[in-house]
Amino acid sequence: MSNPSPLTALVGIIASSVQALESAYSQQGAAFPSLDEPYSPGPLNNDATVAATTRLIVAAAHQLIATVREPLETIHDYAPGMYMSASLGLVTDINVPEVLKDAPTGLHVDAIAEKVEVDSGKLARVMRYLATRHVFKEVSPDVFANNRVSSVLVKAHPLEELKTNKVTKYVGATGAAIVGHITDEGLTSAPFIIDYIRDSPKDALAPFNLAYKTKATLWDWYEEPGNEWRGLRFATAMTGGGERFPPTIFTEGFDWKSLKEGSIVVDVGGSVGSVTFAIASAFPHLKYIVQDLAKVVDDPGQKFWQERSPQSISSGAVTLQAHSFFDPQPVKNAAVYFMRLVLHDWPEDTCIAILKHLRAAAGPSSKLIIFDMLMPYACPDPAGGPPPPPAPLLANLGIAIGGFITAVDLQMLNFFNGQERTLKQFITLGAATGWKFEAVNPGPLAALVFSTV
Ligand SMILES: C[S@@+](CC[C@H](N)C(=O)[O-])C[C@H]1O[C@@H](n2cnc3c(N)ncnc32)[C@H](O)[C@@H]1O
Repeated sequence: MSNPSPLTALVGIIASSVQALESAYSQQGAAFPSLDEPYSPGPLNNDATVAATTRLIVAAAHQLIATVREPLETIHDYAPGMYMSASLGLVTDINVPEVLKDAPTGLHVDAIAEKVEVDSGKLARVMRYLATRHVFKEVSPDVFANNRVSSVLVKAHPLEELKTNKVTKYVGATGAAIVGHITDEGLTSAPFIIDYIRDSPKDALAPFNLAYKTKATLWDWYEEPGNEWRGLRFATAMTGGGERFPPTIFTEGFDWKSLKEGSIVVDVGGSVGSVTFAIASAFPHLKYIVQDLAKVVDDPGQKFWQERSPQSISSGAVTLQAHSFFDPQPVKNAAVYFMRLVLHDWPEDTCIAILKHLRAAAGPSSKLIIFDMLMPYACPDPAGGPPPPPAPLLANLGIAIGGFITAVDLQMLNFFNGQERTLKQFITLGAATGWKFEAVNPGPLAALVFSTV
C-alpha cells in the first residue's frame, strides 16, 4: 500500500489522538472540557499521556492548516502577530476578564466599556479580534463572555482594587502577569530585534536596550523608580512560568534522597524560590538557600514563603539570601548548586562568569544542576535524541513543543541577548568552566547534572 498523503496522515494523527483523548476522559467519567466554559483544573490535568496526546493533536492541526492554506494567507495571518499581543495586553491591563467573571452569560460591550472606562466601539473591535481567535466568546452581536482561554487571565484582586493599586495588581495572577510582561516590555522591545540583528549595534546589550534607550539590564531597570511594579509583575510571571512545568521535573531530575541529612542545596537566581518549594516539600531532610537580588528575596520572596510555608523559614530549613551571582559565591562546598531558567537569560561570556563563581565555591563532591529547556531542531538531530514523532510532523512537534521553546528563545534575545541552548552547547559551557557533564534527564525542562571531576 502506498504511503498516505501528508494531509491524510495529519488527519489520521488527529483522529486517532482525539479518540485516545476522549476515551481517557470517559474512563474518568468526564467529558473533555468545553472551550466555552471558564477553566477549572480537571482530573487529567497533569497526566503525561494526555499531555503527549494533546501535543500530537496541536502539532498536526497546525501543520494541517499550514499545508492546506494558501501561503499568502498564512503570511497574512502571521505578520500581524503584534495585534494579538496588543489586544491581549489591552484587555489584561484594563481588567476585561475580571469584569466578565461575574457575567457568565456575557455582557454587552457598552457595559464592559463603561466599567473599564474606554471607548465602547474600539473595545468591541479588540474583543471581536480576540473572540475570532478563541480568546473570549461573542455570545450574540457585541455581547462577550469569558471562555476557557480568557478565564485564565482573571487576576486575584477585586476590580476596584485592581484599578487603584497598580503595584500589587498582578500579584497572585500568574497568567495575567505573563501576558502583562510580554505585551509591555516584550512588545515594546520586539521591533528592535530587526535593528539589533541587522546592524549589530556595539553599545546595546539587547533589543530591549535599544527600545528603552538604556544601558541597564532588565533586572537593574526593574529597580529604577517607577518600575517596581513591573519587577513585582515579573516575579509573579516567573512563578507562573514555573507552574507550567510539573514538579516531578525537579523532584525526580536528581537523586535528592542520596544526599545526607542537612546537606546544603543552593537555588542560584531562584527568584522567590518556587523550585525550592517543590523540592523541599518532597525532601525535608535537606537545607535550602534561595539566592536572588535583594529586591526579589526581601519582598515577593518573603511573602511567597509566609503564604505557603512560614515554618520553613522560621525553622531555618529554608533561607532567603540576597546575593548577586556575579560576586563570589558565599556558600562553599554545597551538596548542590542549581539554577532554573537562569542561564538562558545570559550570553555566553556571562554564563561563563556565573558558572566559574559556582565552580570556585564547589567542593569535590558538589554537583551543579541546570534546569533549562533544550533547544530542539525542527528537523531530526543527526546526534540522536528522542524517537521522532509520526510522519509528517516536525521533529520538534512544531507549535506544540518547538513553538514555545523558540518563542522563549527570541524573548531571551529580546531582553538580554540570552538564548535557549542545545545539549551540546550546555556541555561546552560546563567544560569551559570546570564542570563535567554527567547526565541529562530530558523533559519539558531538562535536568542537566554536572560534577567537579
Ligand atoms: C528567569 S528568572 C528565574 C528565576 C527562578 N530560577 C525560577 O525559575 O523561578 C531569573 C532570575 O535571575 C535573577 N537575577 C538576575 N540577575 C541576578 C544576579 N546578578 N544575581 C542573582 N540573581 C539574579 C532575577 O531576579 C530572576 O529572579
